[in-house]
Amino acid sequence: MATIVSKSSAALKGVAHLPGDKSISHRALILSALATGKSRIKGLSEAEDVLNTIGALRLLGVICDKKGQDWVIKGHGLGAFRAPEGVLDFGNSGTGARLMIGALATQPIEVSLTGDESLKKRPMGRILKPLLEMGAKVFPKDAAALPLTLTGAAEPVAITYRLPVASAQVKSALLLAGLNIPGETCVIEETPTRDHTERLLAQFGVPVKKETLPGGGAAITVKGLRELKAADIAIPGDFSAAAFVLAATLMVPGSRLEIKGVGLNPLRTGLLDVLGQMGADIRVSEDSAKAAEPYGGLAVNYTQLSAVDTDPAMAARMIDEFPALFVLAALADGVSSFRGLAELRLKESDRLRQMAKGLEACGVEVKEFDDGLAISGRAGKVPGGAVIDASGDHRIAMAFAVLGLRADKPVTIKGTESISTSFPGFAKLMHRLGANIEETFE
Ligand code: S3P
Repeated sequence: MATIVSKSSAALKGVAHLPGDKSISHRALILSALATGKSRIKGLSEAEDVLNTIGALRLLGVICDKKGQDWVIKGHGLGAFRAPEGVLDFGNSGTGARLMIGALATQPIEVSLTGDESLKKRPMGRILKPLLEMGAKVFPKDAAALPLTLTGAAEPVAITYRLPVASAQVKSALLLAGLNIPGETCVIEETPTRDHTERLLAQFGVPVKKETLPGGGAAITVKGLRELKAADIAIPGDFSAAAFVLAATLMVPGSRLEIKGVGLNPLRTGLLDVLGQMGADIRVSEDSAKAAEPYGGLAVNYTQLSAVDTDPAMAARMIDEFPALFVLAALADGVSSFRGLAELRLKESDRLRQMAKGLEACGVEVKEFDDGLAISGRAGKVPGGAVIDASGDHRIAMAFAVLGLRADKPVTIKGTESISTSFPGFAKLMHRLGANIEETFE
């Protein structure tokens, strides 16, 4: 068990480079595995979630090797996964599990999948329902969570599916399944979600058609049975990891920091828009708008933020950034309101519950709704002095580690080993930038 103690801190200064984007890393690995030949991936995240996807691919007969700083993945083409000898264990990773279930649903092998206690509580029905329509079979028949055994369809059928929730994981699972189906698989999304799968597929030589629908939304179509050609992929830094470094810099007076080489996909950077509304001093410089995934630098200066009401339509563009935003709201001037966020109850923990509980324990007034929070900002400092249980959720752990930097009394977070599922080296990086954070291991 690891514990972080976070205390009132002097200014943060310096330059930060972040781990590779986790979302893109899972996808780059899976698409490389489905391609023919050797793909080379630069900047792959080596967070535990991603290592679990590598472990699963290896059990399926895919050779994944680290060469210098890069990863080289040898794919055998569509439909070529080997029946694994063991159970695929995705640890804490909803993305790894859901995307792989998609990729496996149209390969005629039997695969058992599991995960840790947090992942076993997360809904899988949202991806199983359409995948069963395509012809996959699942055991137990009414499985709605891990562990489960999946038998991919030998003669899968293409479907058109309207997403009932805004979810890039469901969209991507269906597109991955569609790669091995004759005909066109179409996913209709009402709210745009991160499009990393679509962008990467183009890099592997399989274009994805996107049509805007009258009345909003988009139809995203992939034509199956086209060979994926091995590719060289470069992955930028993870914007969702940057969110915590940004939050710490914005809240500690005198802080001034540069974040380099971070992903700036517009479907991920909703937080920058909201921070802009709160008055944050952040300069964005795009290094490459033309890259398959845009990336660039962020120059951030401490700012006393004002409260904000987020537009629920923004949620999908910043779904993982709310824990970081909630701690910023706790230090803002005025009452902030965040609604339309019922999905946050289904993440690595119930993030609305855990954030409300932890903020209250730190002396912040919070109102909890079914679909959001209202947070009374304490204009610069919180009382702190709480012991927070990270509840197996990396983002809860990092959010309170950051909040402690502006607390009158230290904030202790138990269970911070979960941070390595997405951001290995978080405490060390924060410490190097000047944050008053100590992590101990028992
Ligand atoms: C992700 C999509 C989001 C996000 C998750 C990563 C992805 O989940 O919360 O951390 O890589 O596709 P949903 O698809 O459930 O919204």
